[in-house]
Amino acid sequence: MNKWVKAGLIAALAGMTLVYGGCGGNSAGSSKTSGKKQVAVVQIMQHGSLDAANQGMIDGLKDKGYGPDKVEVDQQNAQGDQSNLKSITARFKSNKPDIIFGISTPATQAVANEIKDIPIVGCAITDFETAKLVKSNQKPETNVTGVNDRGPVEKQVDMGKVFLPNAKTMGLLYCSSEVNSEIQANQAKKHAASIGLTVVEKTVSSVNDIQQVAESMVGQVDFIYVPTDNVLASSIPTLVKVTDPAKIPVLVGADSMARDGALASLSVDFYKSGVQAGHMAAQILDGKIKPEETPVEDPEVYEVIINKKNAEILGIKIPDEYKNATMVD
Ligand code: TRP
Repeated sequence: MNKWVKAGLIAALAGMTLVYGGCGGNSAGSSKTSGKKQVAVVQIMQHGSLDAANQGMIDGLKDKGYGPDKVEVDQQNAQGDQSNLKSITARFKSNKPDIIFGISTPATQAVANEIKDIPIVGCAITDFETAKLVKSNQKPETNVTGVNDRGPVEKQVDMGKVFLPNAKTMGLLYCSSEVNSEIQANQAKKHAASIGLTVVEKTVSSVNDIQQVAESMVGQVDFIYVPTDNVLASSIPTLVKVTDPAKIPVLVGADSMARDGALASLSVDFYKSGVQAGHMAAQILDGKIKPEETPVEDPEVYEVIINKKNAEILGIKIPDEYKNATMVD
């Protein structure tokens, strides 16, 4: 099966409602009589990091006693579409699950704007506070808490200099409507300036702009940095189709984007951050903690991921300091 057909099939499956542990495939709300806890999950779109965070949350819940015998999970994926987010939110509002998992900033914002009386645990969210999901990360005072994915942006930018010690200009590329990306972009700009890099900043408003915007960077930048941006993450192959022939390395905020063809990342382990969030959710279901009073947690693990094949395409030698990095291709 060709890769794209396969990806399409997976995306289609993810868009369907998967109810596990249920008898007869009821939707979450209608099977409250089963005595199982109802868990509703919303994810903005299909891409590696978010899928890993999602799986981690379900596994984290299970670790703490909420496996398929105790919970029913209503999985919803918005396929990157705001109108789908609206209908998913309406679905959760009427089904009234016991807890909602929000995966990514845009998905969690959509449910949290409308639903104030059900605990929401978020994961793969750059900054809960800037996204206005909580009053403060230390003390949410809303029905939302979770685990952020604040990656080491400064160190990610530094990687550009490690691969290309003579680099002078950094391209910065993200989607203008994602607040999660804007925060990281500001951080990246400040740091780049402090290490003597000139920044060429470009934004896209949807995946349709990526090719053209990438083409406009050719000849202008030594490398490109892309933060954990949902739109870009879903289309790394489109980006590298332009940057690879131009021999421009692309450094990224998440491992999944390096797996999809970018050169390298120093990334949060999204699966582990999901497990961490799943553990928080179990404590909420146990009645031991309330989102209102539970500080947003930081992710624990970072790892360097290098796409060996991309390094070969670009003709770049892997620097000694990354000898022990995880290699993918
Ligand atoms: N940080 C993004 C957000 O707040 C979500 C995210 C996690 C992501 N990992 C990613 C986006 C990797 C792009 C690539 O919504």
